Amino acid sequence: MSLLITNIKQLIQVHDYNTTIIKGSDMKKLPIIENAYLYIENDTIIEFGDMNDCEGFDAETVIDATGKLVLPSWCDSHTHIVYAGDRTSEFVDRINGLSYAEIANKGGGILNSAKTLQDTSEDELFEQSIKRLNDLIAMGTGAVEIKTGYGLTVEAELKMLRVIKRMKQESLAIIIPTLLAAHAIPEEFKTKKEDYITYITEDLIPKAAELNITNYVDVFCEEGYFSIEDTEAILEAGKKFNLRPKIHVNQFNILGGIALGVKYNALSVDHLEELNDDDIEALKGSDTIAVALPGCSYFLSIPYTQARKIIDAGLPLAIATDYNPGSAPSGNMNFVVSAACVKLRLTPEEAINAATVNGAYAMGISNMYGSITRGKKANIIITKPMNHYSEIPYAFAHNPVDQVIINGQLL
Ligand code: NIG
Ligand code: FE
Repeated sequence: MSLLITNIKQLIQVHDYNTTIIKGSDMKKLPIIENAYLYIENDTIIEFGDMNDCEGFDAETVIDATGKLVLPSWCDSHTHIVYAGDRTSEFVDRINGLSYAEIANKGGGILNSAKTLQDTSEDELFEQSIKRLNDLIAMGTGAVEIKTGYGLTVEAELKMLRVIKRMKQESLAIIIPTLLAAHAIPEEFKTKKEDYITYITEDLIPKAAELNITNYVDVFCEEGYFSIEDTEAILEAGKKFNLRPKIHVNQFNILGGIALGVKYNALSVDHLEELNDDDIEALKGSDTIAVALPGCSYFLSIPYTQARKIIDAGLPLAIATDYNPGSAPSGNMNFVVSAACVKLRLTPEEAINAATVNGAYAMGISNMYGSITRGKKANIIITKPMNHYSEIPYAFAHNPVDQVIINGQLL
């Protein structure tokens, strides 16, 4: 199978060597080729270059991209798209003045989603979740991390993992599963949290690891959820099964989760709506990437991550949707790229780097995804006609995507 895309107005994120992470001031650079071609064989990027040098390709399919741009598919490194039902009524409660914490304290929030998920059959959960996945693929996402965490029991968490595995089998998209082992404290453990931590470390994590579906472990390290000590106990248990941390930290309060994540060689620390200088220092020299989730800040009306502080300190940044029923019910990476420019004050180049190569890094797949590089997988967006890639964030809440190619297949 071979595919040739011709007359591309701008071919974006072109790297001759295999770029796997982009940090600091390098994030301002976005290599492009104007008037380009791209040649794909099977699932792999084989060649690209100036349209004037496009000779000798005998492709089965040719797409004329006159007036359009081509870029790597979005790499969404933080989602919770396996859930049941929705939380529309809590959305209305918040409009009427209740806070996220107040809703959670009266049994809403994560506990509400957990109850619905526990009562939903595995097939029904799959059907609801695959629909969300297909929606976000159509919006240009080619690789996506999916967390568990709405189970809160071993049984329901394993159900979530099996659903993610089935999505992986039935979808072309690249799916990276994460065991969100500690997301909230179930009602029945409210007065004996230690017992729940033991349940997670001695029951859930070993049983989940046995399924061999995930390489990552996540904890919601936050006041009213899991403390630094709890988080450390869970990361320690994960480590025994080679589960690398990707953790929720600093969403509402700074507990020291970033330094703890770095200590455990976390692949990513996510949210960071609250951030101090110690956090920045902790990230320096580490292999841990910060992930900002502007859709969550937008939806909950909480501070936006101070992304400038992170990038200006020479650090890498990724951006993701956080798609979930409570704090970010949207999987639109185009909106996230735009919000990163408008609210995080990233340049379009920085935002696109954060949503492609760096997003792939935050899923451990940037050696194969996230840039237009010979030998990488052909995960590609062909945009609607436009003149410049800055129009993607500029035209906020528009859909710039015309066609998507995943692993060489045109959808
Ligand atoms: O990333 N912060 C924790 N987890 C999710 C939201 C969970 C929910 O409200 O359902 C998040 O924002
Ligand atoms: Fe999240």
